[in-house]
Amino acid sequence: MIQLEDPSDQAVVAKFFEADQGHLFDDWEQLDSLARRHLLTDMHRIDLRFLQQLIRDHLDSDAAEAPIAAPTPPDWIPLTDPGRETATEIGLHALRQGEVAVLLVAGGVGTRLGHAGPKGSYPLLPISGGTLFQVFAESLVRLRKQVGRHIHWIIMTSPSNHEQTVDYFQQHSFHGLAPSEVTIQPQEQLPVLDPRRRKILRAGPGRVLFSPDGHGGSIRLLQKISEDLRERGIRHIYSHQVDNPLARIADPELVGLHLREKSSFTSKAVAKTDPEEKVGVFCKVGDRLRVIEYSELGPNDRVRTEPDGSLCFRAGNVATHVIDLDFIAPQSAGGPLQLPFHVARKAVRHWLDGRWHEASSLNSVRFETFIFDVLPMADRGLVVEADRALEFAPVKNGEGADSPATSRAALQKLWANWLVECGVQIEFDDNGAPLRLIEISSRLAGDAEQLRLALEGVVIAPDGPILLR
Ligand code: UTP
Repeated sequence: MIQLEDPSDQAVVAKFFEADQGHLFDDWEQLDSLARRHLLTDMHRIDLRFLQQLIRDHLDSDAAEAPIAAPTPPDWIPLTDPGRETATEIGLHALRQGEVAVLLVAGGVGTRLGHAGPKGSYPLLPISGGTLFQVFAESLVRLRKQVGRHIHWIIMTSPSNHEQTVDYFQQHSFHGLAPSEVTIQPQEQLPVLDPRRRKILRAGPGRVLFSPDGHGGSIRLLQKISEDLRERGIRHIYSHQVDNPLARIADPELVGLHLREKSSFTSKAVAKTDPEEKVGVFCKVGDRLRVIEYSELGPNDRVRTEPDGSLCFRAGNVATHVIDLDFIAPQSAGGPLQLPFHVARKAVRHWLDGRWHEASSLNSVRFETFIFDVLPMADRGLVVEADRALEFAPVKNGEGADSPATSRAALQKLWANWLVECGVQIEFDDNGAPLRLIEISSRLAGDAEQLRLALEGVVIAPDGPILLR
């Protein structure tokens, strides 16, 4: 074992050797003093006892995660519900009172997309090359005008993309938002492990490979900053993911339904039509709502249909939620809610045993929490149907399904339909895709009605791309 002058450094090194993680010091002799300090700082930060507990509970024990007992299809508020419109007024009132903050969940590493930089900095917009971050920020600029006050924006990053995210927003002047309206904070992280030997992997010689603790890290983050949020008068959090440019930010209708139904955790869901679509669905177990992953739903339940042919388990989770602060971070005794951990396997390039291992197989395990795991803890939860074409087109993969190409195509169709509703003539191909390239800034409009107002006095050229900003 290496010998160090500082007793607390020496103690931490001893702990890692005892835990059979002494390989982290294999390159010690080759590291300069700065790299050594860096490694020791990481070591001090790792809660080794907690990590060993996770390994025992999830990797060493044969008990795979217990299957969900007897799930039944949940009730949801369908698109056709006549009470939705009145809920919008309730939601707008809460927004005007400043009771709602928006949380952008952007701590993921985006392995599948493979974009260098935070996923939110991906240039998705088809004409200007504007980014996902820009789409969301400009929606908030529009909402600020609509409700007459700013809506506080929390952006959850992770330690690996935090600095880049902060730099991005500084370089882009927060896309028109005041920096005081935005809280950018990283979630926690945990070391990534070798699945066979449970060894902590390395990001390079003398560097631990960490990964964020899943989108459930947002619950811990909200708990951590709950006092600040309460001081700002915030009572409800509207959370959405960075990879869906169609997400309706702070949708007053969803907020209104959440409040009207006195729900603690409300989610949007889109109707799943293909039983093999790999999206989690909402279900009920006893009297509690929860999300069941695609892989957890039994083969019979997966294809079971209603008399009208729709899937029984069709309420697909699009990861847009309204969450009560008092529910996840109660001020009374009992303390904040705790989330269970899950194991995720991912392909990552890493350094082990003195050489690089390429990301050619699922060669790593990590521990993650899921934001929707708090749903079964809610006495009152709610699922609300959303129209997939209008609200869900995620950017997950570099190509193929759920890629920038499919997401851009969904945006094009949406904007083209808005323009048609506003009386602009647009031609479409046989697949319903517009023949002209279109881009409409979210600063300008979030639906056809808002676009109609924004277009007053605007002349649109008869051909060529349409860029409305
Ligand atoms: P994904 O499950 O798509 O994960 O995240 P990912 O890390 O972004 O991408 P892959 O799987 O490596 O390709 C869904 C949402 O949850 C966020 C992501 O930023 C995205 O908005 N997320 C995920 C976090 O904020 N933290 C995490 O630890 C994981």
